[in-house]
Amino acid sequence: MAAHLTKQELLDALYRPYRKCQECPLGTLGRNKVVFGEGNVDAELFLIGEAPGRREDLEGRPFIGQSGLFLDTALAKVGIERNSLFITSIVKCRPPNNRVPLPLEISTCTSLFLYNQIKIIKPRIICALGSVALNTLMSAKLSITKVRGTPLEYKDGILLIPTYHPAYLLRNRSKLNDSLADLALIRTYLSKTD
Ligand code: URA
Repeated sequence: MAAHLTKQELLDALYRPYRKCQECPLGTLGRNKVVFGEGNVDAELFLIGEAPGRREDLEGRPFIGQSGLFLDTALAKVGIERNSLFITSIVKCRPPNNRVPLPLEISTCTSLFLYNQIKIIKPRIICALGSVALNTLMSAKLSITKVRGTPLEYKDGILLIPTYHPAYLLRNRSKLNDSLADLALIRTYLSKTD
């Protein structure tokens, strides 16, 4: 019975029927692997990016390419360990040439996966990496530059703290300190006990 399944079992059951997902156009546009997400199923922090890149598409794991390594370094600088969190992206399949995912792809994929992943994991804090994650999760059109580092109310008592996407930081190194400040704020919230 569902009540007795562990979080990992629930996540596995969510992913299993969609290993070769074709529910949205991305499934037929040259993608290799569906990148479901990975990490600590009891995580208090859930990091959400935009879409898998080339390395992620080939290996089926999130944030393992250049942006992922950059993100890991930034997290380590503020004392957040990658193995303490859960990490995924808004859409689970790589868009052709890394283009921005389209509204239909986002709505199909988030209803299938992401919203269920959030319900299963029940994080205290979501960190939206970049404007696609921010605006999808908040159902709004907010400026990442204006709201980065601001704790927003997501739902069910979950805080959403946005910061820049690591791929953007790789191209705009002058914003790295802002992002480190956002991650340090998240670290502070995580260390509060309620
Ligand atoms: N960018 C993302 O948003 N997700 C990944 O998994 C890799 C790069």
